[in-house]
Amino acid sequence: MLDELNRDLDAASAEADRLIAEAAGLDELRRAESRLTGKTGALGRLLAGIGRLPAEQRGPAGKAINARKTEILARFAEARARLEAAGAGKAAPGEQTFDPSLPGAVIPRGSVHPVTAVQWEVEEIMARLGFVVVGGPELETDYYNFEALNIPAMHPARDMQDTFWLTDKLLLRTHTSPCQIRAMERLGPPLRVIAPGRVFRYETEDASHANTFHQLEGLLIDRNISIANLIAVMKLILAEVFRREVKVRLRPGFFPFVEPGFELDMQCGICGGGGCPTCKRSGWVEILPCGMVHPNVLRAGGIDPHAYTGFAFGMGLTRLAMMRYGVRDIRGLNSGDLRAVVPPERRRGFAIVEK
Ligand code: DAH
Repeated sequence: MLDELNRDLDAASAEADRLIAEAAGLDELRRAESRLTGKTGALGRLLAGIGRLPAEQRGPAGKAINARKTEILARFAEARARLEAAGAGKAAPGEQTFDPSLPGAVIPRGSVHPVTAVQWEVEEIMARLGFVVVGGPELETDYYNFEALNIPAMHPARDMQDTFWLTDKLLLRTHTSPCQIRAMERLGPPLRVIAPGRVFRYETEDASHANTFHQLEGLLIDRNISIANLIAVMKLILAEVFRREVKVRLRPGFFPFVEPGFELDMQCGICGGGGCPTCKRSGWVEILPCGMVHPNVLRAGGIDPHAYTGFAFGMGLTRLAMMRYGVRDIRGLNSGDLRAVVPPERRRGFAIVEK
């Protein structure tokens, strides 16, 4: 029995010598050592077999195996010391210690917000038509948000927009239209401006209503501007935004700062006008309100309504972004969670990082 054990131990010993001789570096040496002396290695298996020996052989067998194991471990230790002394595993000063050919860590990449993406796109289109981007404060005065836009105090039209009042003269702007007045004051006629921005309404939130959303105001003022110009420019913009020819129609709409005022509809792009669930079977989708600037508004902006006319429009940027990117719930847009915004089938262009 012990003869057989000794043969096995000799074999393990020879195996150790071979592995030590072949080990090219410290790592390889360490792996060889644990393979040989670990539970499933040659020595480990011999130790585990002791239990199956007759009782009187167990003591001597255990001693023999452990003695040999100590010997083998010592030889590994010696080899390790040799390699370490030769400098293996340590970088020479100035030597590169990483492998530049390995793939790097993937750094999560963000992307612009869908509303920002649509805003930039519209700005780019409008810039080609000679419009410049202007702005205004989100914290507005009663004067710019209402009064100058032909919505005097007590006017029932104030109820059209539920307002966050901060004091009795200061409010969070309910629309981007106050930028019209600021632009007229600052730039004077003729004028082509757009004003994208955040607006606020005191609303109960649901999938299609948020208390904070984005609009893009447009204003063009020049001599002899007519409704025909309004329609032509709107068609051009919509054709660019939707990247196809669009048919539009105007319905009368009331907004105190325009006269006449319109709701502009676009022929439904899904059914081509035949009627489908998206357009509620009408063949048309309401796309933006617009109109000819009211003389009172021109006057408030310091422009003579007899010399100049113009048109204005209010584009719902948030709504446009929802249409473009298939966002079903408006609340996702303010949530900061990209997965809440863009449905999986539309995510490719967005570099959304999924965990
Ligand atoms: N300011 C309006 C709103 O938020 C939208 C609007 C309507 C803007 C007609 C315009 C316009 O410039 O001509 O409800």
